[in-house]
Formats: sequence, structure tokens, C-alpha cells
Amino acid sequence: MANRVPLMAGNWKMNLNHVEAAGVVQKLAWSLKDAKHDASQSEAAVMVPFTDLRTVQTLVEGDKLPLTYGAQDVSLHASGAYTGEISADMLAKLSCAYVVVGHSERRDYHGETDEIINEKAKVVLAGGMIPIVCVGEKLDIRKAGEQVPFVLAQVDKVLADLSAEQVASLVIAYEPVWAIGTGEVATPDDAQEVCGAIRARVAELLGAEASDAVRIQYGGSVKSGNVVELMAKPDVDGALVGGASLDPEEFAKIVLFYQR
Ligand code: 13P
Repeated sequence: MANRVPLMAGNWKMNLNHVEAAGVVQKLAWSLKDAKHDASQSEAAVMVPFTDLRTVQTLVEGDKLPLTYGAQDVSLHASGAYTGEISADMLAKLSCAYVVVGHSERRDYHGETDEIINEKAKVVLAGGMIPIVCVGEKLDIRKAGEQVPFVLAQVDKVLADLSAEQVASLVIAYEPVWAIGTGEVATPDDAQEVCGAIRARVAELLGAEASDAVRIQYGGSVKSGNVVELMAKPDVDGALVGGASLDPEEFAKIVLFYQR
């Protein structure tokens, strides 16, 4: 079995301006240092608003903080007349390691389809960064017991035309929409059911090497109080954390799950 380092990624969404970001990143780094965080056990990352990236880059590089960082979205286009958009090149230039693509909030509020998300994943990979590709069902699908086929259909589309090597390098975030920001966390068994099915699908589509290597996160109301049980599941390789990532001490406890 591949040695997958869990990825504990904070998705700040539209929170924390660049001044606040500096404070949160420094506090997070101090908490991790205090606890003698071992980056080979768990990778700490923050996905921040575009306007925070330069500040976060300066801190992480200048102070050699044990953190990686990235953006929450990217334009499909390389450059040109696309008012308000940010290209993969611009993000790569800021040394982003990751870009979240296809978050359910982008799907819901910005009409992003699986096809667009697939194109965005390709743009991120072409830019030399790692896409965190989000999938997940809404409550009606969960109530109907259709979560596995629904999410696998999303996976097929968002990974379309990617090579085994590309998929091995990326991150898939399973975020059941009904668990996002609601306090309603999926049970560890719920998370494992879908994350395990995603890995099996990757094996079917692209082979064992890709399925062993791809990191699959769970997201939706992850907190320090529930992360240990979720991470105990064999196919859960990390968490995409919203609200709880805004509090650096709480997020540090999530990153440090392996010490408990
Ligand atoms: P919460 O952790 O606030 O539920 O958000 C999850 C999420 O959407 C992370 O991308």
C-alpha cells in the first residue's frame, strides 16, 4: 500500500483579509511547532482568498513555516479579457501548491458543472499545481441511498481524460453537501463508504498504482472532536475543513490528529 501522507487542508472560503491571514498563519505555525508537529505524519495546508496569497507566501517562505497553501478557484482561461478572473499562471507564480476546484459552493452559486471542473483540474495540473477536486451528494440523494452511484458518476466526469499519473498526484475531496457548515458530520462509516468506493473506481479506471497513491479527503463539519475517528478509516486520507480552520488553535488540533 502506498504511503499516503494525510492532507489536512483548511478552506477559509471568503473569510480573513490579508492582515488577519498573517495572524492566523503565524498562530497556526506556533501551535504546530509547540506540539513538535511531524510533517511526515500529516500535511497542514490552507486554501485562502486570492488577496491573502502573497501575504501567506511571504510568511511561509520567509519563516520556513511547515505549511503549504493554495487557492480556492482558478479561471479556465490562460489570460485575456476575463474581468475578475485569476489564471493558473498567476497562482503558480505565487507558489501555490494546491487549487480547490469544484467546491459545492462554486457548483451551486456559480453554475460549475462536472465538465467545467474537469477542465479546471486540467488547467491546474498544466500549471504544475495539485487540484483538490470536490465531489459530494446533496441530502435528497443521501436520503434515497444513492450516494455511491451519484458520487462515482461525478468522479468519472471530473477525472475524464486524466492520466493515471495525473490522478495519482491529485486530491479528491468527498464533501457531502448536507454536512457542510451544518454541524452535521457524516459518520466515519458514511465517509469510508464513499471514499472507499471512490478509490475502487480509480483502480477500475486507472489501475492500482493510481488508486493507491491518490489522496481522498473527507469534508463537512470536521472538528478536533471528530477528526480522529474519521481519520481511522482506511480510505480517508485527510480532511477539507471549513469553519474550524478559521481558528488556528482548533485547526492545529485537527492537523495533529495523529498524536492522539
Ligand atoms: P465546514 O467544515 O464548515 O462544514 O465546511 C466544509 C467545507 O466546505 C470545506 O471545503
